Amino acid sequence: MRVGYLQFDPVFGRREENLERLGRIARERARGVNLLVLPELAPTGYLFLSREEALSYGELFPGGPTERFLERLARELGASIVIGFAERSGERLFNSCALMRPDGSSSVYRKAHLFLDEKDWFDQGDTPFEPVRAEGTDIGLLICFDWYFPEVARVLAIGGAKILAHPSNLVLPHCPEAMRTRCLENRVFAVTANRTGSENRGGRSFSFIGQSQVVGPDGKVLARAPSNGVDVGIVEIDPADAERKDPTGRNDWMKDRRTDLFGKLLDR
Ligand code: ACM
Repeated sequence: MRVGYLQFDPVFGRREENLERLGRIARERARGVNLLVLPELAPTGYLFLSREEALSYGELFPGGPTERFLERLARELGASIVIGFAERSGERLFNSCALMRPDGSSSVYRKAHLFLDEKDWFDQGDTPFEPVRAEGTDIGLLICFDWYFPEVARVLAIGGAKILAHPSNLVLPHCPEAMRTRCLENRVFAVTANRTGSENRGGRSFSFIGQSQVVGPDGKVLARAPSNGVDVGIVEIDPADAERKDPTGRNDWMKDRRTDLFGKLLDR
């Protein structure tokens, strides 16, 4: 199975242009991929000025421009594709990602852990941490800052995820290295697709760190993009490698967990 990331630098608010560019890069550089992950909020950019502005970019899924773009691209490439976008549902707005399969069926995950001012723009996600089926395997969806909460990757792995698909707009420096631990402690693959460039709006400035990557269940970085610029990284993997949960020959990743000592884990 071939999995990969597409890293690029969207221009804020230019949805049509950004999608057009993503499609062009994917057609030129990602042929033959089975699972391609694109960044968080890739069609619109990140730095909204208000909830009203964010709502104005919200789109239905299915039924919006990102769904139409994804459906066509997934069919053309014969691949499953994951992208982050602003999802409108009635008066609610989510920082969501969708996985589109080549047959036109799709799954949506809504970001559970909102970062910084995302708390002003979006509603908290309400989709459970349950893997979705695609390309004959189980894929766990999480978005950017969700990485900071190790329970997300753990619950997805307990649910059977072999690959974490992780659209991102990373600004803090820690995630690329930390995802190696998420992979190691859960014995899963992860594809993090980050963006690059910066946005300056309303007197504020955000710079995004790139370094999109594919990591293996042993924590090894199998591909990593530079901090700047467009990059596509594709790696051949065997998802069955994520079924081997015993790093020593005497341990059982599931049975050895001391859940009898975990009392406070679910305290509010
Ligand atoms: C982030 O969650 N976009 C940092």
